[in-house]
Amino acid sequence: MIEKQAQTVYTSLKGRVIFITGGASGIGASMVKAFVGQGAKVAFVDIDESASQNLLTCIAEKFPENQFVWYKNTDVTDSEALQSAVDEAAAFFDGFDVLVNNVANDTRQDVSNVSAYDWHKCMQVNLDPAFFASQAAFKYMRENKRGSIINFSSITALIGLEQGAGYVTAKAGLVGMTKALARDFGDYNIRVNAILPGWIATDRQLASWLTEEEEQRWMEYMALKKRILPADVAKLALFLASDDSALITGQGINIDGGRT
Ligand SMILES: NC(=O)c1ccc[n+]([C@@H]2O[C@H](COP(=O)([O-])OP(=O)(O)OC[C@H]3O[C@@H](n4cnc5c(N)ncnc54)[C@H](O)[C@@H]3O)[C@@H](O)[C@H]2O)c1
Repeated sequence: MIEKQAQTVYTSLKGRVIFITGGASGIGASMVKAFVGQGAKVAFVDIDESASQNLLTCIAEKFPENQFVWYKNTDVTDSEALQSAVDEAAAFFDGFDVLVNNVANDTRQDVSNVSAYDWHKCMQVNLDPAFFASQAAFKYMRENKRGSIINFSSITALIGLEQGAGYVTAKAGLVGMTKALARDFGDYNIRVNAILPGWIATDRQLASWLTEEEEQRWMEYMALKKRILPADVAKLALFLASDDSALITGQGINIDGGRT
């Protein structure tokens, strides 16, 4: 998929350390590229080794001079491993400025078949990592007296999603977590915001659910009848990570072409 880089250069992002969960594919990969394009130092974790290696190759080809990408194969449902990855990235880059809690798994399941195990697994990947990564990042951001945390929610937290009760519940929880942590961290000049994407045309969505027919039906409810690409979402993340959004915290921002 052809992606356009952001037209804006955020001078405040140059040299900043950005940590992205689930960065190997989809919106995460687009954000990795967008932050690298801004001259940031980017750390990402993911469980998909082959997608991660592909992304590293792609970055090496696109930005041959770039020395500033760090990656670790990490299962974010292991909170201790996730927190260790935050510490390792901070040590590697000697700093930590921005945390993007992007990872998720939106696998659908009939409500009647959801076991207690399934429900807890769903929270472990869709809700818990944002809290534990934020807790680990807070140590560094508090010391710097500056930081930006971006939580990936979803407009499904506002409009629902069939066969997605656990996912939607977690995404609504992320809006609450954003409000709560924005208050806890505000005294340290650490901002916490949420991005609520509409339906974004990632490879996974296109392969699984975003058929031509579904897209047309969805667009009937959008004010802007245009496909939203991962790069469009990455541009919003750049803004929220940069000092240009210095007075914005505790907010959830929808990027859905006016679907909600
Ligand atoms: N794509 C959309 O239409 C859409 C809509 C609304 C919200 N969102 C949100 O935006 C964010 C990114 O969405 P996306 O569509 O790019 O997601 P995606 O499913 O395409 O990518 C998620 C990434 O997380 C990784 N991952 C999954 N489980 C993991 C684990 N246990 N440990 C480590 N890594 C793991 C995957 O390998 C993948 O690289 C998510 O939070 C998602 O909920 C997406």
